[in-house]
Amino acid sequence: HDDGMEPLRARQAVAEALARGAGARARKFFLQRDTLHPELKSDSQDLVSEADRSIEAWLRRAIRRHFPGDGIVGEEEAATEGTSGFVWVIDPIDGTMPFLVGQPNWTVSIGLACGGEPVAGVIYAPMLRELYSAVAGGGARLNGRSLAMNPDWTIASTTIGFGATQKALPAEVGAFVEGLYREGGVLFRVGSGALMLAYVAANRLAGYYDPTLHCWDCWAGMVLVREAGGLVSFDGDFTRPGAMWAGNATVHAALRRLSGRD
Ligand code: IPD
Ligand code: CA
Ligand code: CA
Ligand code: CA
Repeated sequence: HDDGMEPLRARQAVAEALARGAGARARKFFLQRDTLHPELKSDSQDLVSEADRSIEAWLRRAIRRHFPGDGIVGEEEAATEGTSGFVWVIDPIDGTMPFLVGQPNWTVSIGLACGGEPVAGVIYAPMLRELYSAVAGGGARLNGRSLAMNPDWTIASTTIGFGATQKALPAEVGAFVEGLYREGGVLFRVGSGALMLAYVAANRLAGYYDPTLHCWDCWAGMVLVREAGGLVSFDGDFTRPGAMWAGNATVHAALRRLSGRD
């Protein structure tokens, strides 16, 4: 039957297939990463390679073939507008740095927006063999298993993901870390914001804070965390980066306070 979810569920199914397809392509590049010639973008740890560009191009072609009326926002190419109301928010490789240095913690992140709201998200970690998938109102899953966040955790219960890059202000990083450690919090960082959000949804991290994320880093992860019962806030949009906070209600509030926001 059609419960109004059909167009969204159809896109979630395609997003899962495309995440696996992109992941298989990325894995081939990863196994031959010494042959890539990465270029610097904005700073000494912001790189891009043929892998990022060709996988984004492959994803865009596939999305246009399946849903020609949908818009697409992605990291490596200019945004394209659609007519259907759905916008795909894609990062072909989230974690280019770990990818290039041979760490397994990088992901393909595919989010969907409708009316500017995050409505579906798929995050695939090919080297970890993990596919995270969520749809608004339909729950979050890891390799098919339902995810539900621990509502009782505080920032001191287990590690907190933190994503500051060279773009972060040293004094703000210092103040956040000092405050967190004063309250019993301990930091964790991998170079994929999408993976850290997936880890929050899967109870592998108590929460996550990043002062400067782009929509394509966190769009899919926002749906995962919300559908696993958590809270997420993001003060960026499709055109500019912003800060991101994620956790259960207690952790989310504490991270916002420690970041100087509330
Ligand atoms: C980066 C990762 C990282 C975050 C950076 C992002 P990229 O994405 O998500 O965890 O801290 O802000 O730019 O460039 O590897 O796709
Ligand atoms: Ca990048
Ligand atoms: Ca990214
Ligand atoms: Ca990327």
